[in-house]
Amino acid sequence: MYAVTGATGHLGQLVVEALGKQKPASQIVALARDPAKASELNKSAGSVRAFDYDKPETLRSALEGITKLLLISSNAMGRRTAQHKAVIDAAKAAGVELIAYTGILHGEKSPINLGKEHHDTERHLKQSGLRYVFLRNGWYIENYVAFLKSALANGVFPASASNGRISAAGRADYAEAAALSLIQDDGSTERVYELAGDTPFTLSEFVAEASRQANKPIHYKNLPEADFAALLTKFGLRPHLAAELAQSSSATAQDALFDDSRALSKFIGHPTTPYNQVIASALRALT
Ligand SMILES: NC(=O)c1ccc[n+]([C@@H]2O[C@H](COP(=O)([O-])OP(=O)(O)OC[C@H]3O[C@@H](n4cnc5c(N)ncnc54)[C@H](OP(=O)(O)O)[C@@H]3O)[C@@H](O)[C@H]2O)c1
Repeated sequence: MYAVTGATGHLGQLVVEALGKQKPASQIVALARDPAKASELNKSAGSVRAFDYDKPETLRSALEGITKLLLISSNAMGRRTAQHKAVIDAAKAAGVELIAYTGILHGEKSPINLGKEHHDTERHLKQSGLRYVFLRNGWYIENYVAFLKSALANGVFPASASNGRISAAGRADYAEAAALSLIQDDGSTERVYELAGDTPFTLSEFVAEASRQANKPIHYKNLPEADFAALLTKFGLRPHLAAELAQSSSATAQDALFDDSRALSKFIGHPTTPYNQVIASALRALT
């Protein structure tokens, strides 16, 4: 029996859908803190169970009968290590055989500060004695696409990534890999995948392509990390989150998100979706 946490999130929905293409609904459980929302969003799942990382006492019973679990990292920055630890401990107690966890590209070698909670989770998972898969995901192309609406309005796309190369991939490709990592369980004790897109781009290239497709002028503006953090705060992000995102952008300038292993496309058996296609569908959605 397969289960996916965060099934109502962007990635979770896609993983449940990918599992549904290969497994019957009766073998798929969507785990979500809002089961009503999950029933609405996860049509490929045969059942839905309440699963809130912040309610550790409820997690073990929710995992009864689950053999393969995808733990999608939480978005509650600063509280994630404790949340993930609660899930791993409950999974062990419930007899789960395998946990796949969505971490960060290059694991403990990543200079991105957001990686710290991922390393701590990976360490705990290793120590748990459970069999595990580390899905070390690069950035989603959708992270950049999210800025296009305001970039089109203002003509400026700000960040601190300079000319760093970014091997981002679309969420759907990472989701396919996550589903496969559970389905193609060969009994290994540990598997580690460094997952990234086939075609790296700089943000100047990304912005030029968006500008070309939208037929509107946008230019990439490189900002010092502190200025970018201040701008993100002005956009409404909490200062701590803005600082973390600005730091990840400035680490990108040093190629922190570059990877040419093509492990993702090798694993899913087809090229990753190029960024121009992700831009095209985002622009269609904006009009
Ligand atoms: N690689 C990247 O570029 C990148 C970018 C951003 C984030 N991430 C990481 O990847 C994860 C998945 O990405 P995403 O795009 O799917 O993010 P997302 O849409 O924000 O989904 C996060 C999911 O976590 C769930 N969640 C949050 N707190 C929870 C709790 N206490 N108990 C149970 N579930 C909880 C949310 O539930 P609700 O639906 O109820 O809110 C949601 O389903 C993120 O959470 C983050 O750790 C990666």
